[in-house]
Amino acid sequence: MAIHLLGRSNFGKPENSGNLMTIEDANALLNEWVPNERLRLHMKQVAAVMKAWAIEKENADEKTALKWELAGLLHDADWEKYPDDHCRIIIEELERRNIDPEVIHCIASHGPSYFGVEPNNKMDKMIYAFDELSGFVHAAALVRPTRYEGMDVKSILKKLKTPSFAAQVNRNDITDAISRIDISLEELIDFVIQHQKDVS
Ligand SMILES: [Fe+2]
Repeated sequence: MAIHLLGRSNFGKPENSGNLMTIEDANALLNEWVPNERLRLHMKQVAAVMKAWAIEKENADEKTALKWELAGLLHDADWEKYPDDHCRIIIEELERRNIDPEVIHCIASHGPSYFGVEPNNKMDKMIYAFDELSGFVHAAALVRPTRYEGMDVKSILKKLKTPSFAAQVNRNDITDAISRIDISLEELIDFVIQHQKDVS
């Protein structure tokens, strides 16, 4: 992915805290902005994993879980139509819609080496950790005749050590993201497999 530094670290307005949008509205935005079905699926998978992590591991209430889900669902929304301005366009759209600043910051920090925004809270750190891993696990599923059925963590670990497999997935980002959280790569891979396998 190319580097598109955002050049700022504050996003949205504090008074918009708690302003979310419905999943239906977020999906409508995706359908309009992202014709590529595979890219839409990627965002839906990251959203499912984020939501599940919030509920299962962070004891999130419904509204907080929706924040995690929305960040996942919209994080690459501008990638297809605005590849040269990826991240800036969706951030500005969410600011225009007066969306909760934490959701916007989470999206802005999902690739610190590309956008120049550091992940602050757990939601930020988890989207960073899950984004590449989710795409990688899906790439691995696509080359298996049985897809996710019977997929194990070990096979994913092995593929991660094979640079030619899904070469576009930046292993350094995965390592960097994991260094910021106290969760093992194995646990994250297992969580991704379990929670994105049924997303369509
Ligand atoms: Fe992504």
